[in-house]
Amino acid sequence: MLSILCDFVTFCKKDVIIFAMKQPANRFEIEKRLEKPLKVLVFDSLDSTNTCAKAMLKDGENDDFLIVAREQTKGRGRFERKFYSPKDAGVYFSLVVTPKTREEIAFYTPICAIATADAVRSVCGKNALVKWVNDVYVDGKKCSGILCEATSKNGEIDKVVMGIGVNLYEKNGGFDEEIKDKACAVADGVENAANRIVAAIVNEIRELIENFDKEYIVAKYRRLSMLIGKKIEVCKEENSAEKAIAVDIDENCGLIVRYGDGKEENLRIGEVKILC
Ligand code: BTN
Repeated sequence: MLSILCDFVTFCKKDVIIFAMKQPANRFEIEKRLEKPLKVLVFDSLDSTNTCAKAMLKDGENDDFLIVAREQTKGRGRFERKFYSPKDAGVYFSLVVTPKTREEIAFYTPICAIATADAVRSVCGKNALVKWVNDVYVDGKKCSGILCEATSKNGEIDKVVMGIGVNLYEKNGGFDEEIKDKACAVADGVENAANRIVAAIVNEIRELIENFDKEYIVAKYRRLSMLIGKKIEVCKEENSAEKAIAVDIDENCGLIVRYGDGKEENLRIGEVKILC
């Protein structure tokens, strides 16, 4: 009888520990970690936090805000690709900011990438690096994707929706077939990772925007960049790929590449694949 009771207590304790470890995204847990006040909304399920944030702006929302979902049913990445977003396996959010200048906007994706890599390092203790232009990798696999989208009023950009998703845990049964060799999760054994990561990313993004310093951002982005010196494939259009070497990050956070014929190009947008 005593042993059954002990087993039961151990079982309950384990559940409580697992619950405390894997606490889902929660408004108060995020708010209490924010360095500056911000409107925070957390939903159990949304189609996409970016889509929802843009709809709120269209409906007249004027302030900056943060919208977080425990799951997305239509999570989107660049080029309208699907972003894997199962419930509590990751954390998916959009931070809406008001740009002060047009120049800054070009640096918002690098700013998000720096803040995300830093948060994965500080909260999860992983060696997170940035894969130009909008991904964060750990041990050669993607743990986070970023999608910044601008909205405009009277022909002028008025807000930027910074969408970030971070894979925290592998869901039961592992990653979906199409991403299982390329994706990784970063928060196994990390307490309250979802809320801590969101707050850490948001705090750093807001700090980098408030004290906008282009040289600092470029230097840090370059330092965190995993591509420099690597053989890559540059994909500018669908079904076109050209082999190159990633040489450096330029003063606009563009990627400098050298093709086989020795020609160099500074890429501002596009996509690259790592060959080795
Ligand atoms: C990519 O991998 O190309 C970017 C992925 C961006 C995913 C985030 S998750 C939160 C926000 N909502 C979305 O639908 N997408 C972004």
